[in-house]
Amino acid sequence: MATLFIADVNLVLHVVILVMLFVGLGLKFKKKMFLHGTTMLIALVLHVVSFGLMMLPSFVSLRILFPYRNNIFSLIMLVHVILGVLTLILAAWLIVRWHLQRSIKSCTRRKKVMLLVFAIWIITLLLGILVYLSLYTTLVPWVYSEA
Ligand code: HEM
Repeated sequence: MATLFIADVNLVLHVVILVMLFVGLGLKFKKKMFLHGTTMLIALVLHVVSFGLMMLPSFVSLRILFPYRNNIFSLIMLVHVILGVLTLILAAWLIVRWHLQRSIKSCTRRKKVMLLVFAIWIITLLLGILVYLSLYTTLVPWVYSEA
């Protein structure tokens, strides 16, 4: 029951972060770069909370290290975890390099990394939502069926 509640909270976080990423992208197109950076910073904080809430306990209990029996599910889980950690490291690096300066000159140079982080972040979140749906609902039975 407690696990389901944490998973529900984590699902909400995933959806909120997803929305924030597109809001952040929209702010970039409106040339509101400081707000763009700040939105990504908040998304990163939520990503860290989500990581601590769900992924870290799974790591600690070694659940992630012992593959689930189903191949597709194990693969989705593995890619989700690897991309999630990569997102965390790269997004944190972008924020640290920016360190809330008003000037966005230095950020402009890291445009390609941002595009990469944006892409892997979206994939991570979508896979996370898929993991939730396969574990706690009957909406995607093909993910968890025996290989
Ligand atoms: C941490 C996660 C971040 C993500 C996921 C992200 C994502 C993006 C994306 C997808 C673009 C569009 C790239 C393109 O047009 O090809 C972009 C552009 C940009 N971002 Fe970020 N961003 C992040 C952090 C930041 C920070 C901290 C700043 C500093 C204020 C910043 C400043 C900019 C600027 C100036 C551009 C425009 C670059 C240009 O068009 O020359 N971003 N970002």
